Amino acid sequence: MNHRLGRHIVLIGMMGAGKTAIGSEIARRYGVNFTDSDAEIEAAAAMSISEIFERDGEEFFRRRETQILTRILAAPPSIVSTGGGAWMQPRNRDLIAEAGLSVWLNCDLETLWHRVRQRSTRPLLKTADPKGTLARLIDERYPVYQLADLNFPSRGGDSVEATATRLIEE
Ligand code: S3P
Repeated sequence: MNHRLGRHIVLIGMMGAGKTAIGSEIARRYGVNFTDSDAEIEAAAAMSISEIFERDGEEFFRRRETQILTRILAAPPSIVSTGGGAWMQPRNRDLIAEAGLSVWLNCDLETLWHRVRQRSTRPLLKTADPKGTLARLIDERYPVYQLADLNFPSRGGDSVEATATRLIEE
């Protein structure tokens, strides 16, 4: 089925919330474009996110993130998956509010931890206590994620397909 989106649908939330998996599933089902800001940053830099953090630091990454989001949001509407920190920048929130509907995939600590613990790809979790870091990020970010247009619970036990169906219904 091919649809045309009137606005971007921008998925926000923590690493491990399922933004990429759910976003690409919805896009596939509806025949609309899917864009992943982290993947675009990596393609533009020809480096992984971890390499960018290591070589140029987080501040540089955040500037790139805003540039790439600006470009994505200026393009025809798509389902957009953002990195977990993108929504924390007021400039990015303004850009997203102008161009689309923001959807927070709201997920609890245990589910997030279960999903991200195996992976070493998240530079922010390369700490002595990654679960504690994740919990601290949740405390810091959830009050700001609340500002999204839609607060959508992403439940641990649900499949990507079931979550995508629930989200489309909403
Ligand atoms: C980050 C999340 C990552 C990536 C970068 C920083 C964050 O994206 O953008 O490692 O600040 O939470 P995902 O949320 O897709 O893992």
